[in-house]
Amino acid sequence: MDSQDMSLRGSWGSKAAFIFAASGSAIGLGNIWRFPMMVSQNGGAVFVLVYVIAVILIGFPVMLAELTIGRHAQKNPVGAFEHIKPRTPWKLTGFLGIITGVFILSFYSVVAGWTVGYLYKTASGAFNNKDITAQLTDKIFTEFSANPFLVIVLALIIIGLTTYIISKGVKKGIERWTKVLMPILFILIIVLAVRALTLPGAEKGIAFYLRPDFSKLSGTVVLFALGQAFFSLSLGMGTMITYGSYISKSDNLVSSAGWVSFSDTLIALLAGLIIFPTLAFAHQPFNVGSEGLVFKVFPLIFSQIPGGYFFGTFFFALLSVAAITSTISLLEVPVSYFVDEKNWSRKKAALIIGLFSLGLAIPSALSTGGMEFFTKIKFLGALNFIFGNIALAVGSLFICLFVGYAWKVKKAAQEVYSGNPLFKIRPLWSFSIKYLAPVAIIFILIFIKKIVSG
Ligand code: TRP
Repeated sequence: MDSQDMSLRGSWGSKAAFIFAASGSAIGLGNIWRFPMMVSQNGGAVFVLVYVIAVILIGFPVMLAELTIGRHAQKNPVGAFEHIKPRTPWKLTGFLGIITGVFILSFYSVVAGWTVGYLYKTASGAFNNKDITAQLTDKIFTEFSANPFLVIVLALIIIGLTTYIISKGVKKGIERWTKVLMPILFILIIVLAVRALTLPGAEKGIAFYLRPDFSKLSGTVVLFALGQAFFSLSLGMGTMITYGSYISKSDNLVSSAGWVSFSDTLIALLAGLIIFPTLAFAHQPFNVGSEGLVFKVFPLIFSQIPGGYFFGTFFFALLSVAAITSTISLLEVPVSYFVDEKNWSRKKAALIIGLFSLGLAIPSALSTGGMEFFTKIKFLGALNFIFGNIALAVGSLFICLFVGYAWKVKKAAQEVYSGNPLFKIRPLWSFSIKYLAPVAIIFILIFIKKIVSG
């Protein structure tokens, strides 16, 4: 969609175009960087199990709710709540989403910057060594991420590019490319997973990843699994409301939400199938994954595959593209608000919010060794927790309560019927939106206090 379509509130060219754009938003660092880290920190397979259940029972229904709000109102998140329930505080949910989006964009861009840095590293042969060890990749990441100037410049490149794409409205071009590039990323990930699964010692990694140890199940695991579901599916801050506002009335919202949820989950699960067997092969512990996990582990698998140089370079290139299609969707939410509601030009909105996010990105960029203060308080990790887990959960809670009790499922369902006259899963959706999701989210929010106080 280009800027003109935006102002005329046009629609996606087809259902497939929507699915590609929404999957582009959903699939990104959340799947390949954040998911394995969460699995590692939260008990392995039991986390994976809770995650998949959370996606099916809560993530998918919330995605359908967001798409329904968006398509019905045909507006940005703030405008959408205001349109459906005028002059009520519900529009605060939209504002919360805008703030959350800017914060997520800030630290996300830092990690996306690392990806571009690793693209350069891999392409220039830094990992072109058959005997590369876990100690070496660890050292390389630690030194790289502690270089303050470099990581800030890389984050600047990501935010600059995102701002440029959003302000020029050249997303149509981007979408054309993602249609080709995302399937290639998918195939590449499968190739890497096959290699990882056949490495000597892989079984131990597979066991950690896929054989649940129920003694590790806890409120913390549920909190992080649910938060990860919202993060990975781009829920809880209005991204899917915005994207939904461009879906045609004749499209089936249920199957659209289903496809996006399915492809997103598949990619995350495959990423884990690469990371854990490779850790086992390299005799590394499974449960100490930090922000550097994938950057330390992927170079190890490249060294174990014929043509590793080629695969490695290609992988980080595609991951950079996947990250940018996600940053675009993060910036789009605040920009569409200022354009629709405050009559700013796209250019002005993109530039101001882009600059603001860049400012916010600096402490995150300095928190992996670049500056002692931000490293000590784990600034990036803290934002990732507060905005990537909690704020998205709160946003999702309000979205459920809005559809379930303010707008009401009966009226919302009328929107779903357009394009899906049967809407067979309506009772299940209604149950999740009204009871299951709100109760689960409130439960985990109560749990945070326990976690924060240790
Ligand atoms: N889902 C994306 C990922 O997994 C990140 C993302 C894009 C996002 N837009 C979002 C997360 C909106 C939460 C909300 O990489």
